[in-house]
Formats: sequence, structure tokens, C-alpha cells
Amino acid sequence: MSRPASPILSTRAIPEAGLRVLRDSGIPFEVRKSQDPPGRPELLRLVPGREGVLCQLTDPMDARVIAAADRLRVVATMSVGTDHVALEACARRGIAVTNTPGVLTEATAECAIALLLAAARRIPEGDRMVRAGKFRAWGPTLLLGVAVAGKTLGIVGAGRIGQAVGRRADGLGMEVLYWSRNAKPEFEREVGAQRADLDDLLRASDFVTVHVPLSDETRHLLDARRLALMKRTAILVNTSRGPVVDEKALVAALRAGQLRAAALDVYEREPKLAPGLAKLENVVLLPHVASATEETRSMMAVMAAEDLVRVLRGEEPKNRVR
Ligand code: GLV
Repeated sequence: MSRPASPILSTRAIPEAGLRVLRDSGIPFEVRKSQDPPGRPELLRLVPGREGVLCQLTDPMDARVIAAADRLRVVATMSVGTDHVALEACARRGIAVTNTPGVLTEATAECAIALLLAAARRIPEGDRMVRAGKFRAWGPTLLLGVAVAGKTLGIVGAGRIGQAVGRRADGLGMEVLYWSRNAKPEFEREVGAQRADLDDLLRASDFVTVHVPLSDETRHLLDARRLALMKRTAILVNTSRGPVVDEKALVAALRAGQLRAAALDVYEREPKLAPGLAKLENVVLLPHVASATEETRSMMAVMAAEDLVRVLRGEEPKNRVR
């Protein structure tokens, strides 16, 4: 098989700051032209001979793709999530996998809070009403939402991002519950958060926000049974990974009035939505943009590019997943 001219492949154009890191490394690199995600067949064609792949969360860096990447030394994903990368297959071959933790914490937390407020105060519905010319007069019961202050937020997964959401919720005057494998005493002290069993958290929370990574243990963590535990007045926010919530069950629960609303940035089969989801008025839907600020995406690009270059230079990357 002929060797590609560039040992590095970036599967998409990334922010300029990251490209600069690649340029400055002096190692030839190729940036795939299309802004659509590559599917597996294209990756299978592109990866043979590459030593480093800078990928995105949309790219199926699965066992077949890794097997085809005969010279691969590093997969640097410009994301904190790594569920799209075959970590075991990489580990077996000694291929480093790096990600971009930390720099997207605040942006993602801001987005989770924006979604929470948007659903609580029905902001997209109001926007749709005004645009459609249906705002005729102020009304005493026009588009009533629900208060956030004084309510209870349940955080499912109190890692970096979950805790950052908790701090913001504390600032909004909310009570905070969290579910996490380990107790977080400092978080508890800081925001008065209380640790709870998942089912108890779902029963007690007015808002639930999801911040666990996707794994075999967390797939459909919020299934029909758990969604049914939520208050009928509760609002669900998900900025982690779509498959953590059973989306079909969520549509059914929303339709049946089992919960008030949902605000989602992520979906089970992106970019596809579960049938009926987009038809519901009581959902706020974003196109997986929780980390999409100019500042954060530049930092993510730099982090991924620097770690990729480190590995190709024989140095230890800073953000090795395994
Ligand atoms: C975003 O979803 C990420 O994993 O970085």
C-alpha cells in the first residue's frame, strides 16, 4: 500500500490556533476538506499509513478503523468524550489516545444552564411566537414558565462539568443533589450539595441535568423506568451524550405528561432525532454545541494538536486517556 504524503490527518478543519500548532511542528499534515463527518468507509481509506489522527467526536474511530491504521501512534480527539474511539484496540497496539478535558468545562456548564433556563422560561416558544407575529399583547398568563430559584437540581454525574453546573445552580438559588460514584466532599461544602442514590435524586429533583460519560454502564441510564420516577413538573437537561437517555422513552414520557419538558444538546443517533421529538412544543433542541464558544474550541484544537505532536516527537502527551 502506498504511504500517504502526510503522517498526520486532521479529519476536519479545526480552529486556526490548532492548525498553527500543526504547522509549527514541521511535520507534514493533511486536513480533510469536507466539513461533513467522515463515515467509516472514508476513514478506512484515509488512515492507512498515518501516524497521528486528529479526530472529532463524530468520527467512528472504531476497532476496524484502528486495525486499518497500520502505522498509527496517536489518536488525538478534539473532545472530552472518547466513546467514539476503540480504546481497547488502541491500548493493545500501544496507540496513545488523548482528549481535551478541562477547557470545555465552563462552556458546557454555561450551555446546560442556558438550556435549563430556556426550558423553565419557555424562551424558544416565546421566540417562535414573536417571530410568527402572534404576540398581540402582554397577558397575565401568557407563556407562564416555572421558577428556578428555590428549586432542586439533580446532577447525574458530578465530575468537572457536573460540579461547574452545580456552582452555577447555587448562584441561581437552587438546592443541589448529585449522584456520583464517589462522594465529593469539597463540592458538598462549596455549594451545600447532597449526594443521593440515582432513583431518589430523580424522585426529588425539579430539574435533572446529565453529565456522565457514555459507557456500557451509562447507556440508557435514564430509561423508561427511571424517567417515570421524575416529577410530572420536572425538566430534564442533557448536554453529555444522547444514548445516556432512552430517547424514544423520553418522547413517550413527554407526550404522556410524565415530565414537564426536556432541553437537549445531544441525541441517541445524531444528527437524527427520535420520531416525534421535534414536534413537541415542550422541548428545547440544540445541535450538540455545548462546547461551541470561540474561546473553548480554540483551546480544544490547541490541546489536541499539541498532544498529537508530542506523541509523534516521542514525548509523553499531557492528556492521555490511556
Ligand atoms: C463534547 O461533546 C465533547 O465530548 O467534547
